[in-house]
Amino acid sequence: MSFFYSKDSIEDLKERVNIVDVVGRVVPLKRSGSNYKGICPFHNEKTPSFVVSEQKQIFTCFGCGATGNVFEFMKRYYNLEYIEAVEKLADEYGITLEKRNRDDRRDRYYEVNRLAAAFFYRAFTEKANRGYSYMKRRGIAPPVLKKFGIGYADPEWTSLVDYMNSQGVDNKMLIELGLAAESKGRVYDKFRNRVMFPIINTSGKVIGFGGRALSDEDNPKYLNSPENIVFKKKNNLYGLNISRQSVGKEGFIILVEGYMDVIALYQSGVHNVAASLGTALTENQAALIKRYTDNVVLSYDADSAGRNAALRGMDILKNAGCKVRVLHVSDGKDPDEFVKKNGREAFMKLIDNALPYGDYKLDAAKSGLDLSSNEGRIDYIKRAAEIISSMSPVERDIYIAKAAKEAGVSESAVRMEVSPEYAGSVHGEALRGGSGGRGAEKSPGDEEIIAGRDRDLLILAMRREHYIDTISTMTEIFSQESSARIFNVIEKDYRENGALDENRVMDALTDSDRMLLKEACDSTPFYEDEEKVFRDCMRDWKLSCLTEEEEKIITMLSLADETGDDRKLKTLMERLKIIQMDIQAERNLG
Ligand code: GTP
Ligand code: MN
Repeated sequence: MSFFYSKDSIEDLKERVNIVDVVGRVVPLKRSGSNYKGICPFHNEKTPSFVVSEQKQIFTCFGCGATGNVFEFMKRYYNLEYIEAVEKLADEYGITLEKRNRDDRRDRYYEVNRLAAAFFYRAFTEKANRGYSYMKRRGIAPPVLKKFGIGYADPEWTSLVDYMNSQGVDNKMLIELGLAAESKGRVYDKFRNRVMFPIINTSGKVIGFGGRALSDEDNPKYLNSPENIVFKKKNNLYGLNISRQSVGKEGFIILVEGYMDVIALYQSGVHNVAASLGTALTENQAALIKRYTDNVVLSYDADSAGRNAALRGMDILKNAGCKVRVLHVSDGKDPDEFVKKNGREAFMKLIDNALPYGDYKLDAAKSGLDLSSNEGRIDYIKRAAEIISSMSPVERDIYIAKAAKEAGVSESAVRMEVSPEYAGSVHGEALRGGSGGRGAEKSPGDEEIIAGRDRDLLILAMRREHYIDTISTMTEIFSQESSARIFNVIEKDYRENGALDENRVMDALTDSDRMLLKEACDSTPFYEDEEKVFRDCMRDWKLSCLTEEEEKIITMLSLADETGDDRKLKTLMERLKIIQMDIQAERNLG
């Protein structure tokens, strides 16, 4: 469960904390037999059906079904992530949590990256070189180059490899980090004739590099480190190591697309800026941002790729609980060009005028439509309604009025268009809760491989598309976040194109998800009996749902005598019996 603290120290904390004290501070409790009773803080009630068991160290509400241990209580009551709940409790009890043992292997990788960064930096600063001239030409001053640790990889084939070998670093390590490659038995430098941007995480570790070509004829323009055990694009943002302090001070962050945008804005005095690493913004990056601020201004390039990226990025950030606004520079193709030409003040003005989520989305919904025609107006209202249906009630009111005015129709017509989805989206909002999206609990760290039922289901979905329909009706059938994400891409491709195309799916996945899916598919070239594998998956899934339900009822029953409610007791017993019969039936089938 925990990525940060040792399991022992969390267990230790649980031992030392008494759930009755923790709950009792915020919910008045009365002794009742060997348990405590009170009014449930998680739903509205007049008579107490909320029970805390000192002996079992759990709480259960017979009214709403909420149940769990002391961490679960903290999570729910204070609206925290699991790890935050653990930390808050530890803090209140003055207990120091032990950090989980760090992976030594990873430290060696960081160290080699740091050596490489220093090597490139020396090449950039110690004598005249093309990299330095290039950055000078782009108007970046020495103190800023130094701040970002900009370096230079010379055009030779083995400068870095030779240096590293002389430092006792072996080629295998260099290859794994993407600093070197091997061809016909010879190991050579991967980054050559490039300006080097070290990518540094918020703990100050060099995790990878972006290398820019020195002329526009050189391809690719940017060469980036490949994903490896220390470089996870989806978990990091370029420049955040430097900007995070100013993000705290300014109260918001500006997200841009390019390394150069970060550096140019920084030089102009706009310090609260970071860039996603050449990929679409991810949920993990949104969670990372949320550690520093809830307010994000997206400043993507003015082209259509930048606009699309902004639309997607907004949704990711909004789902993570951030307030988002968008600006596109009005002069030049990207923030770098704009700020060099017009300066900091002009850029700050753009920020002041950045469009909030609703306005930007509604604006984008107009694209390609002719609002002077009836068809255009109808299509616009349809699109607008979909956007508005994901909003809070207050936002809805505001944007229903805006959309109605824009299309020249009555507000009540727009409201009717919005309302069918009303119930659904309110529910969705409630499920997501206030802080962080689903899965935010999983912290950035090693990507697992896909295993067990998840693995079989993904392989089957890729090979026989008729399984996709069945799988898609089972909510939460995937136990790993990555497999659920991958399945969504598969399903989307299938639905949008009427047939599944393996290459299209692979293209649509993020680098790391693609590796996961490839690894899964390659591991199992074929099944002897696909139908049986699928049936087993389904049965396995059904069983685990049933057993979960069974456990919940048993917990409730173990506390039920304290409530003295015979009717409830009987209903619970009946439910238990039915579930146990179902479980038996499923087991017999297998
Ligand atoms: P300049 O052209 O030097 O101003 O670059 P930029 O920082 O403005 O980058 P640009 O807007 O062209 O691209 C945004 C980001 O996408 C870059 O910072 C890179 O992370 C990534 N990127 C751009 N081109 C390439 C490429 O050819 N290959 C890869 N892998 N990534 C790229
Ligand atoms: Mn640029």
